[in-house]
Amino acid sequence: MKIVVSLASILLASPLAAQSSLCAGDEAPLGASRDLYCIELVPAVGIRSASGRVELGRTPGPFTVDVTADGHLRYTLVLSLSGLARPASHGGYSAYVAWVAPPTMEHVQRLGVVTNGRTVLPRIALDKFVILISAEASASATEMNGRLILRGMSPSTRLQPPDFMQFALGAAREDSGHAHHATPGGDSLRWTMVPMPENISMLPAEMTLRPNAVPYLPRESDPSRVPLVQPRQLVRLTNRDTLRLTAGIVRRPFKGDTLTMFAFNGQHPGPLLQVAQGAEVVVELTNALDQPTTVHWHGIRLDNQFDGVPDLTQRAVAPGERFTYRLRFPDAGIYWYHPHVREDIQQDLGLYGNLMVRSPRPDYFSPAHREEVLMLDDFLVDENGLVPFGQATPTHALMGRFGNVLLVNGEPGYSLSVKRGEVVRFFLTNVSNTRTFNLSFPGARMKVVASDVGNYEREAWVESVVISPAERYVVHVRFDTPGEVALMNRVRGLDHLFGRFFPEMDTLGTVRVESEAIARNLTTSFGTLRTDVAVRADIARYRRHMSRPVDRALVLTLETQNLPFFTRQIMQLDSIYFTPIEWSGTMPGMNWAATGDQVRWILRDPATGKENMDIDWTFRRGDVEKVRLVNERRSFHGMQHPIHFHGQRFLVLAVNGVPNTNLVWKDTVLLPAGASADILLEASNPGRWMVHCHIAEHLSAHMMMVFTVH
Ligand code: C2O
Ligand code: CU
Repeated sequence: MKIVVSLASILLASPLAAQSSLCAGDEAPLGASRDLYCIELVPAVGIRSASGRVELGRTPGPFTVDVTADGHLRYTLVLSLSGLARPASHGGYSAYVAWVAPPTMEHVQRLGVVTNGRTVLPRIALDKFVILISAEASASATEMNGRLILRGMSPSTRLQPPDFMQFALGAAREDSGHAHHATPGGDSLRWTMVPMPENISMLPAEMTLRPNAVPYLPRESDPSRVPLVQPRQLVRLTNRDTLRLTAGIVRRPFKGDTLTMFAFNGQHPGPLLQVAQGAEVVVELTNALDQPTTVHWHGIRLDNQFDGVPDLTQRAVAPGERFTYRLRFPDAGIYWYHPHVREDIQQDLGLYGNLMVRSPRPDYFSPAHREEVLMLDDFLVDENGLVPFGQATPTHALMGRFGNVLLVNGEPGYSLSVKRGEVVRFFLTNVSNTRTFNLSFPGARMKVVASDVGNYEREAWVESVVISPAERYVVHVRFDTPGEVALMNRVRGLDHLFGRFFPEMDTLGTVRVESEAIARNLTTSFGTLRTDVAVRADIARYRRHMSRPVDRALVLTLETQNLPFFTRQIMQLDSIYFTPIEWSGTMPGMNWAATGDQVRWILRDPATGKENMDIDWTFRRGDVEKVRLVNERRSFHGMQHPIHFHGQRFLVLAVNGVPNTNLVWKDTVLLPAGASADILLEASNPGRWMVHCHIAEHLSAHMMMVFTVH
């Protein structure tokens, strides 16, 4: 059995061996970063001619990063060697063998026999590692006893504990005028210290940083008039129905305290709207907030004038005013709605809801016993309640506002009770400002069946779901063993200061599995990976475009100004390595204190040099184009960006040059640091539309552009 599994994984990886050339030849100008995804092997003492490279490749899968359930990034190693002499020329050896080990060299693990040329090795999942090539007496050697020939270190090993320079910097007090006395406003709201995540150390200079912005939290002069937040309600809308939706203020109890937050119709999350595919409904929005707002219907290919983007498709709705949205739903799937004004404030304060568009096909999904619709979020609190937002410009403009309380449907501690053998269909939407989750139900089998705009070509087994802000995934989970199964977020945190990875584990909820078995047995259908013939046929119509050359590109990068000296220095030292995904806020002070006035996140068209709102791409309706997204490694701070295209749908064809083999229509794609992705964009829906990063603080720090479909 074991042999079959590893053989299958090698077969799976073989298209990669044939097609990917990330680390061979000269670096492509708009390719993935070699510095982050290739290892140059160095000859050992006395070895003359041998050389080689290791690609940190990706096995095609449903997500743009390959991650284990416990959060380790997993790479398919592709080795290219040349100049190896016969093993016997080094002594009594008969083969070359590749090994991997942590930098401390405990647990040296055999990867396999290698020769000159290209070899695809098994997948590995280590934070930091070394690759060793040795000459061995036997090709079946299980321990490294022979002569070392080549070696290389993973890019992550460049992260090191601080040197004297960093400590000297950090010990100095920052006094650049960015401190708390810069807080104007005259009322009682002040910046205090940002809450500290566990496991993280901050230098004294970082602790003195404060955002140079006026702090903002919603207020109500007469709190007794503010309603208490209610749980979400399901609203079924049929053709031509009208829904009244009010964005207003609510009180929300939290740990014996009361938070003032926002809500649609007083509910957290906002009402769950359910419509039939093809229906048309009217939504009457009333703005009962103290600031302008709009509603964007994320992922829905509706008429442009109802897309909810201020100054592009409508005027923002002023406090006390209304706007009428007429919505149509051409695609089945799980969507969501949120304001398109200062998402870093409004969405974070609770303005979000799901929209379920039902297919007329009764067998659209393979069978499940029940459905659960989960909105994943986090919020940032300290002993005074919610940490204030920046009034005119966002705080947390570098990495986004990571919360310190994880929420499912607005609450910590989700719970569900099921019978033994029950299959649950979970609709997952990430509505957090910046956090990418790596979700799993340890002990239960899970398959992914759909994403943003409908079903995958075929279902796929997954250990975990990697979901970035605004993405959706639909998974089927079967609970076979009585007892408790946790819904967990398991990731690797990165302590930037000490160059150290550490486990972060959060339980978002618990599923209680009763010992009584469920009546209808779904063992067979659950155990089968179904192909969606209709989706496959729809996607097949685009095949002829998939091998076309890249039509356009977008480079994702960053510029900064007036950042405190300390922040600049530390971040420059830190830029020796960027982890593909920043799973959590482990630079809390520096990140918090950086505002949208200091940080400009950029979408750049390399063909014209234009950036952000100076870009206005034009398509003709029906155009199908290949767009390459490149997340620039040589930026001040490289991190992942979930990139969203409004009003259209696209396929993610390849990531870091590795083609995907199981496609799904998407509206948001996660670009890991230093990565490149090719998407096939179908310009099907006329109008003026946005492209932007869905990290709320990046969007509020300028990371957006426009395209027009005629
Ligand atoms: Cu959900 Cu413009 O975004
Ligand atoms: Cu971003």
